[in-house]
Amino acid sequence: MCALKVAITGAGGMANYHYTGFTEAGAEVAAIVDMNAAQAKAFAGPRNISKVYDTLTNLLEKEPDIEAVSIVTPNKFHKPLIIEALNKGKHVFCEKPPALNAAEMQEIIDAQKKSGKTLMFDFNNRARPESQAMKAYIKQGRTGRINSAQATWVRRAGIPGFGGWFTNKALSGGGPVIDLLHMIDLALYFMDYPEPACLLAVTFNDFMGNKAFKGPWGIPDAANGVTDVESACHAMLTFKTGQCLSIRNSWAEMNEREIVSVVFQGAKAGGKVERLFGRDGIDETAIDSCRLFIEENGNQANLDIISEHDETMGRTRAAANFIDALTGKAEALNKPEEALILMKIIDAIYQSASSGTAVQFD
Ligand SMILES: NC(=O)c1ccc[n+]([C@@H]2O[C@H](COP(=O)([O-])OP(=O)(O)OC[C@H]3O[C@@H](n4cnc5c(N)ncnc54)[C@H](O)[C@@H]3O)[C@@H](O)[C@H]2O)c1
Repeated sequence: MCALKVAITGAGGMANYHYTGFTEAGAEVAAIVDMNAAQAKAFAGPRNISKVYDTLTNLLEKEPDIEAVSIVTPNKFHKPLIIEALNKGKHVFCEKPPALNAAEMQEIIDAQKKSGKTLMFDFNNRARPESQAMKAYIKQGRTGRINSAQATWVRRAGIPGFGGWFTNKALSGGGPVIDLLHMIDLALYFMDYPEPACLLAVTFNDFMGNKAFKGPWGIPDAANGVTDVESACHAMLTFKTGQCLSIRNSWAEMNEREIVSVVFQGAKAGGKVERLFGRDGIDETAIDSCRLFIEENGNQANLDIISEHDETMGRTRAAANFIDALTGKAEALNKPEEALILMKIIDAIYQSASSGTAVQFD
């Protein structure tokens, strides 16, 4: 049987995770698209990708055999590129965030429904072995209903460069709220994506011009670039089901260290999926853990769930899951309707922070 042919759009920092996941799942990465020709060639060469294009439009015109496209560009381009690929009958795997806001996400869903094609997003933290282990315990009823959860992705010094696309709201949609949306998504995944009711948020923009708070990835600064996004956010969200979620996201804040976690309190057990970074932003220094807090025989007991270590935080597994979902080997790890709820929550965070009042959902 012929391997499924995939094209990757955007040959930057994240593209190799897509390439590795797709090929490990048995697909062929047949083409690469990047508006920066040198970047595209540098990516294609060592991986023996023979087809290199400067725009998705050109690729779609010239390569009818491509069945699926992944989008790994700055956030502003997600919506137009997803819709273009869906309209040409391709399955799509797109990096997070799904779009800049919920209105864009609704347009994407409309296009996806019309196309009948598969659309998935890179919510890679769901694919982490610890997250899957925890989800299995939740599905088995071990935790009972999750009443409350805390979603945290906080850094001490992790601004991804000054003036590039990450810090420019028109290109990124916002700062750590939208960039580090993963733990909000993971908490909602554990809670079965309940419908939001009411949200109150405050954002801060301290340290956005302070080079001491820059992350360690070597992302270049742009001298005259825009830096107009938040550096930290604190929010509280209630759901129509009576559940609640508190949210802390930051790129730069006076924290002890970078902490990435979902902690929850269920009717039968509590739990935690956590990554503690030794040094902000450096995956190799991180320690992952997954624990359940239970009551057994009148005793308080803690269950340490040991799972395989995945330094990539599920990034290659999430890309592989897209291929496995297309080839019928696995269930898709996320659905477009969940992305719409997530984008509505992110919109509400920015709306509440700017108005200073709580936002009620319809
Ligand atoms: N899931 C994760 O853990 C994770 C981590 C980092 C970034 N991301 C996401 O991945 C995406 C890309 O981030 P990155 O760090 O790889 O960015 P990057 O800036 O390193 O690379 C983006 C690439 O896209 C190219 N590009 C831009 N517009 C294009 C267009 N219209 N058509 C074709 N190519 C285009 C650029 O030339 C560049 O090579 C973003 O959406 C970001 O939020 C996800």
